[in-house]
Amino acid sequence: MGICKVKPAVFLDRDGVINQLVWNPTTREYESPHDVRDMKLQPGALQALRDLQQQGWELILISNQPSYAKGKTTLEEIKAIQAKLHAWLTEAGIRFRAYYYCYHHPQGIVPDYSGACECRKPNPYFVHKAVAEHCLDAKNSWLVGDQDSDILCGQNAGLRTILLTETRSRKKRGQSRPDYTAANLAAAAAILSKYQEARTGEHMKAKAKLKIKIFADGANIGEMKKAYAEGVVKGFTTNPTLMRKAGVSDYEKFAAEVLREIRDLPISFEVFADDLATMEKEARQIASWGKNVNIKIPITNTQGLSTVPLIKKLSAEGLCINVTAMLTLPQVREVARALHKKTPAIVSVFAGRIADTGRDPMPLMRKAAEILKAKPKAELLWASSRELLNVFQAQSCGCRIITVTPDILKKMALIGMDLQELSLDTVKMFQRDASAAGYTLL
Ligand code: E4P
Repeated sequence: MGICKVKPAVFLDRDGVINQLVWNPTTREYESPHDVRDMKLQPGALQALRDLQQQGWELILISNQPSYAKGKTTLEEIKAIQAKLHAWLTEAGIRFRAYYYCYHHPQGIVPDYSGACECRKPNPYFVHKAVAEHCLDAKNSWLVGDQDSDILCGQNAGLRTILLTETRSRKKRGQSRPDYTAANLAAAAAILSKYQEARTGEHMKAKAKLKIKIFADGANIGEMKKAYAEGVVKGFTTNPTLMRKAGVSDYEKFAAEVLREIRDLPISFEVFADDLATMEKEARQIASWGKNVNIKIPITNTQGLSTVPLIKKLSAEGLCINVTAMLTLPQVREVARALHKKTPAIVSVFAGRIADTGRDPMPLMRKAAEILKAKPKAELLWASSRELLNVFQAQSCGCRIITVTPDILKKMALIGMDLQELSLDTVKMFQRDASAAGYTLL
C-alpha cells in the first residue's frame, strides 16, 4: 500500500444536517426521508460543505439509517437516497472521502439488519474505520451532528464536536455536552474555519521560522512510514538499540523494507562490529543498500579505540558517514579534521545525553557548529532529543539537523498553539478521565 498524507476531517451526520428532515403526520415527528422524492437539502448546506472542503477538511459522512430494519422503507429506496445525495454533491464540486451507513435496528427486529451491531452511533466504530482507511488526523478532526448520539460518537472517538441547534429533530437532544453549538452547517463551517486558521496559521508561522531539518529517530516501520507520509521529516536515523526495541530480528530485511518505502530521504544505518576491519566491511555493505543511505559509525569501539582513521578513509572515498555517539568537543575537532571536504557527512552530537548529566548542551553545540564551519559539507546533528523545545534550541545553536523520536514528532502539531486553547484541552482531559474513572466526592 502506498503512503498517504494525513489530513484532518469533519465527520458529518446526514439527516437534519445536510438534508432536511421530513414531517411524518402519523408519528407527528420530523424524521429521516424514507422516499427519494422527499430528499431536500438544508438551505446553505452545499455552500457550507464547499467552504469546509476549501478550508482543507476531508469530508466523511456517518449516518444511522435504521428505517429499513424498522420496516419503514426498502433498501432500494435507501440506496436511491444516497445516490441522489451523491449526485447533488458531485454536481456542486463537493467530494466526500467516504459515506458510512449503519442499517441496523437499535433493538434488532429485521433478521438481516438486527442484532447487537458495533457500528451504530454513538459507537465510534465508523470514525475509527475512516481514520484507518483514509489516513485521517483524528487529533484535529471534528464531528458535526444534530443529536446526542452524534456528539457522543464524536466524543467516544476523541473528536471535537459541534451540535446543530436549528434542526427540526426534537428527540434525543440535550444530554450531550458538545464543544460548540451552531445554528446550522454554515455556522459550524465558520467555527471550523477559525479553528483551521488558528491551527495552520500559527503553526505555519512558527514552522516557517524552523530552518533546521527534522529527522525521525526510530526503527518502527509503521511509525517511520507515518512520519514520511506526514511530510515533516527530511530524513531518518536508526541505531541497534532502537531496532532491538522495535523487535527487529533481521537487520538486512528491516533495512530492505525501509528502503523500499523511503527512497528519496537520507536514512542512517549503523555498523555494529567492534573491530575496525569488520566495521569497514559492514560499512561497505550498508553503503551498497541504496543511494540515500548514510553509514553510522560510532566515534570509538567499545574499548574506546578511535574510529577516526576508518571515518577518514571512507569519507575520502566519497562514502556518506554519520559519526555517532559523540559527546565532546575534542571528538568534534578530530572528526572535522578527518572528514573529506567534498563528501557530505553527518556529525551526531548527543546533546540529550549531555543534558542527562545535568549540563546545558547548548554552549557545546554552538562551539561544535563553529568548528564544523571548516567542513561545510558536514552537517551537525543534535542527537538524543528529549523534548520539542530541543528543536528550537538546536536551530539556535546552528545545528543543521535534529533527530527526534515519534513522541516528539507528534508534538510538532502543538507548535505555536494558542495557550488558552491548550489550557482548555488540558481541563477537558482531566474532566474526561475523572468521569471515565467514575470518581465521585460528594
Ligand atoms: C541518533 O542518531 C541516535 O539514534 C539517537 O538520537 C540516540 O538517542 P538516545 O540518547 O535516546 O539513545
